[in-house]
Amino acid sequence: DRLSLWGGRFAGGPADALAALSKSTHFDWRLAPYDIAGSRAHAKVLHGAGLLDADALRQMLSALDQLLADVRSEAFTSAPDDEDVHTALERGLIERAGADVGGRLRAGRSRNDQVATLFRMYLRDHARAVSALVLDVVDALVLQARTHLGVAMPGRTHMQHAQPVLLSHHLLAHAWALLRDVQRWQDWDRRTDESPYGSGALAGSSLGLDPEAVAHDLGFSRATANSIDGTASRDFVAEFCFISAMTAVDISRIAEETILWATKEFGFVTLDDSYSTGSSIMPQKKNPDVAELARGKAGRLIGDLSGLMATLKALPLAYNRDLQEDKEPVFDAVDTLEVLLPAFSGMVATLTFHPERLEELAPQGFSLATDIAEWLVRQGVPFRVAHEVAGACVRECEERGVELWDLTDDDLQRISKHLTPGVHDVLSVPGSLASRDAVGGTAPARVAEQLELAAAEARQA
Ligand code: ARG
Repeated sequence: DRLSLWGGRFAGGPADALAALSKSTHFDWRLAPYDIAGSRAHAKVLHGAGLLDADALRQMLSALDQLLADVRSEAFTSAPDDEDVHTALERGLIERAGADVGGRLRAGRSRNDQVATLFRMYLRDHARAVSALVLDVVDALVLQARTHLGVAMPGRTHMQHAQPVLLSHHLLAHAWALLRDVQRWQDWDRRTDESPYGSGALAGSSLGLDPEAVAHDLGFSRATANSIDGTASRDFVAEFCFISAMTAVDISRIAEETILWATKEFGFVTLDDSYSTGSSIMPQKKNPDVAELARGKAGRLIGDLSGLMATLKALPLAYNRDLQEDKEPVFDAVDTLEVLLPAFSGMVATLTFHPERLEELAPQGFSLATDIAEWLVRQGVPFRVAHEVAGACVRECEERGVELWDLTDDDLQRISKHLTPGVHDVLSVPGSLASRDAVGGTAPARVAEQLELAAAEARQA
């Protein structure tokens, strides 16, 4: 019955409307295996503190094992009167171990320190799972970059042709951003690697329990230093939501480009049939739905982060029931990424690039003008003058409807005495690319090195 956790002080049970509002089993059930692991660890420290004899410990542990098996097989599920996963599992334990043994487990713990611990355990597992899926996207980008090493494309700023770059250089730019997201999860894990179990409701326990032992049992390096902080802080959830949102935003930038690149106007890529959809009315359509859903879901993950931050804002210490609202946003973030990322890495890995089209457009829009200016600087001309001269070349070409490389030696001399025939060396895409050969540049040799660096980071992550 609903009185089971706090019957003593109350004359009657909660109103149906309160029970309905309070209930969280429909979303916190996924914490059940972690709750049982926490209970096992707690039973052992109760035994260590002399509060549970060896026999009772054995019965308790075997009942918890049975309960876990029953949760897994769904022989045990939540009942209408269970408020949350913790209540339900206590009921399940008592059903299996009897009220005398089962009723001893709650000593020295509260759902406040329980949930704060289980939530960390769940998120640490999923941080690892999501990171692995992000690394699959990185692998797909690295694979494409490796396959197309040497292919030039128009690099853009403001969406306008800017300078030619290697396609691999562009793809690896996305890979680096995602590798940083993976690093963020690793950094986050170091901060989240502490267990609040033993904090009780807020003040700690008087029963001689050993929070460090529970922490180690549950895979944490240490117990939290402050029981109030341990039970009331949720910055680890907010940070998880931020990293999720950042990852989705990084993915959305690849998504947006894929959508553009797959248009007739760009013609840079063709989507694989298995990662595109058709139209129910237009027979010719092949739609980039994976990329569009990725773009859309980035907004949803930003919403998860903002919603959680709004819940946490100005919340006084210590635990407040508002904190029950911390779970759905981050569970949504986890579920969204775990369904999105496999589709996204599949889409990227199966993109067919069209090198002829990319290379044809690479030098267009006078994207070699900067190369003229920098060539002049290498001849000792001040950049201010060099910029003007290169600009004059563009104007001349625009008026005559020709390209920069169509200018003859005479044309060039007329524009500026500094423009000797040597400038032709950089008036080609390969010349331009090769000249950008400092670390981080788009020269083929540099990009080949960068590719190995990114691949190695992905392997080690
Ligand atoms: N279900 C709650 C939560 O997720 C934990 C229970 C704490 N409830 C309480 N009344 N102290 O935050």
